[in-house]
Amino acid sequence: MNANGAVALQLVQVRKSFGPVMALRSGSLTVCSGSIHALVGENGAGKSTLVKIVAGLYQRDGGDFLLHGESVDFSSTAASKDAGIAVIYQEPTLFPDLSVTENLFMGRQPVGAGRRIDRKAMHEEATALFSRLGVSLDPRRLAEGLSIADQQIIEIAKAISLDASVLIMDEPTAALSGVEVDRLFAVARSLRDEGRALVFISHRFEEVFDLCDTVTVMRDGEYVSTDAIAETTPAAIVSKMVGREVAELFPKTPATIGEPVLQVAGLESAGVFHDVSFEVRSGEIVALAGLVGAGRSEIARAVFGVDGYDAGTVTLNGTAVRPRSPRAAIRAGMGFVPEDRRQQGLVTEASVAHNVAAVIRTKLSRLGLITRSAENRAAGPWSGRLEVKTNALDMHATTMSGGNQQKVVIAKWLATDPSLLIIDEPTRGIDVGTKSEVHRLISELAGQGMAILMISSELPEVLGMADRVLVVCEGRITADIDRADATPESVMTAATNTIGAAS
Ligand SMILES: Nc1ncnc2c1ncn2[C@@H]1O[C@H](COP(=O)(O)OP(=O)(O)OP(=O)(O)O)[C@@H](O)[C@H]1O
Ligand SMILES: [Mg+2]
Repeated sequence: MNANGAVALQLVQVRKSFGPVMALRSGSLTVCSGSIHALVGENGAGKSTLVKIVAGLYQRDGGDFLLHGESVDFSSTAASKDAGIAVIYQEPTLFPDLSVTENLFMGRQPVGAGRRIDRKAMHEEATALFSRLGVSLDPRRLAEGLSIADQQIIEIAKAISLDASVLIMDEPTAALSGVEVDRLFAVARSLRDEGRALVFISHRFEEVFDLCDTVTVMRDGEYVSTDAIAETTPAAIVSKMVGREVAELFPKTPATIGEPVLQVAGLESAGVFHDVSFEVRSGEIVALAGLVGAGRSEIARAVFGVDGYDAGTVTLNGTAVRPRSPRAAIRAGMGFVPEDRRQQGLVTEASVAHNVAAVIRTKLSRLGLITRSAENRAAGPWSGRLEVKTNALDMHATTMSGGNQQKVVIAKWLATDPSLLIIDEPTRGIDVGTKSEVHRLISELAGQGMAILMISSELPEVLGMADRVLVVCEGRITADIDRADATPESVMTAATNTIGAAS
C-alpha cells in the first residue's frame, strides 16, 4: 500500500466523446492514498464516464491518466482490476442466476485438487467477508431477488476481496438507508485508515460532508474545483455544481383532497407483509416510510400486481383490481415507477422516446400512428419538463446518465395519465437541482387530483412531501401519521417499532 498522502490516482484534462456527445470535456481528479474523495456534479456532469475510464470500460480520447505516478492505459476492465482498482457501479451488475458466492468470485474461482472449483472454500471466504462488513447473507443463495442494498454489499465485498488500492464507489448509498449507510461508512473509513484511496460519488450532501475529506466538483463534463471538506460548505458546493441558485426543495402546494382512489384492505402475503389496509385519496400524497427491507416496496408491487398476495383486496376508483396482473392495474388507472428502474422500469435497449411512449403505444397504434414522430410527439413535452438532458430524443437509454434514466421512467408513466401513481424512491440518484423539479411535479400532479403513493427512504422527502405518512415496520403498518404530526421522531419511532408506535 502506498504511503498516506501520496497521490494514488490522477486524471488530468481527460476527454471522452461518444459520437456527437461530448461526455467529458476536461475531467481532472487527484486522489491521495488514505483519503476519501468526493466527486459531485449534476446528472450528466460526466462523473460516471470518468469512473468508467478509470475502470478500463472506456478508453479516453485525450488527457493524462496516472496511477501511483505512472502513466496508464487500460484496454479492459481486467487490466484496471489487475492494477488494483475496484469500481462499484451505480447500478449493481450481478448475475441473477448465479449464487452470491459465484458472483463474488466471478472469474477468479479458487481451484482445488483435480482443478475442481473449491466451492466450500469459496463459501467460507464469502461468509468471512460478509461478517467483516457486518452483514448476514447466505452465500449459497441465488443473486436473483436480492434487494439493491444486498447487491451493493456483494459488490463492496468483491472489491475488498480484491484488495484494491483504489476503490471507487459510484452512488453506493443511493439504495441504502440509515443503518446500511452507517455500516458502509464504517467500512469505508477502515479502508481509508489502511491507506487506500477512495472515491465516493453521491448526490447526498450530508453524506459527502460526513464521510469525505476532499471534494471535487464537475459541471458539464468539466472540472470545476477541488476543496478540503473542512474549508467549504454545502451551499458553496451546490452553487459550483449548478452555476445558479437552486429552488427550494419540497415545494409542497396544498391540494384539495377528494374521494378515495386506492383502497387496500387486509392485504396479506405470508412472510412478507400482514394485514395491510390503507387508502389514498384523490389529490393526496401518501408516503410509505420505514427502513429498507420493511416491506414497503413489496406492498407497492403487490398493489400494482407485479407480485401476488394470499388474501385481501385492492380497489381502484371503486372497482376491484385483479391480483397479479400489472396489465389490469394499468387498465384500471395505476402507474408504477419501481425502485429498481434498471431491471423493472426501463427498456434499456430502446430509445428514450420509445421508452417514454411505450405505455401509450397501444393508444397510438389504435390510431395507426406508431411512427417515430408520433413517439417523439408523445414523449417530447414530458421529457422536457423533467429536463432529461439528451442531445436527441432517439438516444438510447443505456447511454444516458443514471439520473437521466430515472427521469425517463417517470416520464413514461406520466404519459399514461394514471389516477394513482405509485412511485418508489422518486428522487434516488437525482441531483439537487432536478430533485426540486421532481418534487414540484409530484406536487402539481396531486394538485390536479392524482392520488400519489410514494415510497421514500429519505426522511426529509417524506416529511416535506406527504399529506399522510404510513410507517411500515416488519411488514405491518405501525403508524398512520398526519402531515401536521409527522416529525423525524414520530416516523423513526414507528419505523423501529419501539415505544409509542401506534397500533
Ligand atoms: N455510452 C455513451 N454513449 C453516449 N453518450 C453517453 C454514453 N455514456 C454517457 N453518455 C453521456 O455523457 C454524459 C455524462 O454522463 P455520465 O453518466 O458520466 O453522468 P453522471 O455525472 O454520472 O450523471 P448521474 O449523476 O446522472 O449519474 C451524459 O450526457 C450521457 O448521456
Ligand atoms: Mg452517474
